[in-house]
Amino acid sequence: MSTFPTRQILLNSRPDGLLKESDLVRTDAVLDEIDDGQIIIRNQYLSLDPAIRDWMSESDSYLPPIPLGHPVWCTVIGEVVKSKSSLYAVGDTVWGMGGWAEYSVAPEDYVFPADMSLGLPVNNHLSVVGAVGMTAYYGLLDVGKPVAGETVLVSTAAGAVGSLVGQIAKIKGCRVVGMAGTQEKCNWLVNDLGFDDVINYRETDDMAAAIAATCPNGVDIFFDNVGGDILDATLLNLAQKARIIFCGRISGLNSDEPIPGPYNMWQILAKSARIEGFLISNYFADFENSVPVMANWVKEGKIKFKEDVVEGLENTPEAFLKLFKGTNKGKLMVKI
Ligand SMILES: NC(=O)c1ccc[n+]([C@@H]2O[C@H](COP(=O)([O-])OP(=O)(O)OC[C@H]3O[C@@H](n4cnc5c(N)ncnc54)[C@H](OP(=O)(O)O)[C@@H]3O)[C@@H](O)[C@H]2O)c1
Repeated sequence: MSTFPTRQILLNSRPDGLLKESDLVRTDAVLDEIDDGQIIIRNQYLSLDPAIRDWMSESDSYLPPIPLGHPVWCTVIGEVVKSKSSLYAVGDTVWGMGGWAEYSVAPEDYVFPADMSLGLPVNNHLSVVGAVGMTAYYGLLDVGKPVAGETVLVSTAAGAVGSLVGQIAKIKGCRVVGMAGTQEKCNWLVNDLGFDDVINYRETDDMAAAIAATCPNGVDIFFDNVGGDILDATLLNLAQKARIIFCGRISGLNSDEPIPGPYNMWQILAKSARIEGFLISNYFADFENSVPVMANWVKEGKIKFKEDVVEGLENTPEAFLKLFKGTNKGKLMVKI
């Protein structure tokens, strides 16, 4: 019987604020027996996503809390090395729910094939043609339904999701304004990605005025990854029939206190606007239709993207904090 020794990083306690080393335990394990319907994946890359911080906390979101004593959950991509699933064979490249470890046991329901026939590197299946890229794709196109000439405002615009949202909106003929936290990121958005305007939100005292100045006809679509004050200020600048895609709330993820507001929600009524929660897992079954479209845009040079690849499982917790400090440069992942 084959066995798979693996280093693992377990969740030991629920973080109060930013994740600390004392919230984790580093350990060694050996994976061998699995149940019917499960596979073992040799993780090649771990995806570090802001949502992991949500899963670490006590409250149920769209997933139950990560059990204490369990490897921290994350999306992984890698090779199937053992299978008791009729869907996946040893040698397949798959992505799905694994953990902060070198090898992960995954149930087949949480695993999907990576289409390597597209000719893109395996790591791209965690970024531009992975769940992150498809979040931008479906969030903007299916929920936002952009029309050429409309104004699209994007928060975390220089990040993995946001940078793709802005570029897809440009492909669809929209005017695109991005929000980011450094001048370097703002310059990249305008000079390299073709955004029409930017707001450095960390340097802005009056967000509502900054949005009014950069979106003089109002915001038709707000792709929001942040929530909090940025959402509140945008509510004051909506165009008639605006659509808000509520995709993330990174500004509140490290707070266990209830977050007040948004105070300007009445603007949804005043502008006959719509706000809709977005969850990429609702679209997994449709990826075979969207991933080739995104892959073509990449090959045609219409979509650019950055990946921030940190080497070594041992560096995962420190790397994770980059998401909240704003120091990641593109889709953050760990190479095992
Ligand atoms: N709903 C879904 O299915 C789904 C799927 C994937 C991702 N998401 C969401 O999409 C968002 C972006 O995820 P990502 O993976 O693409 O990460 P990312 O944008 O590559 O990285 C996170 C960025 O968020 C910004 N940020 C951090 N703290 C902030 C704060 N307090 N206020 C404003 N901005 C802050 C930082 O950039 P700055 O330097 O610009 O501050 C940081 O670089 C997250 O909210 C995530 O939860 C949702």
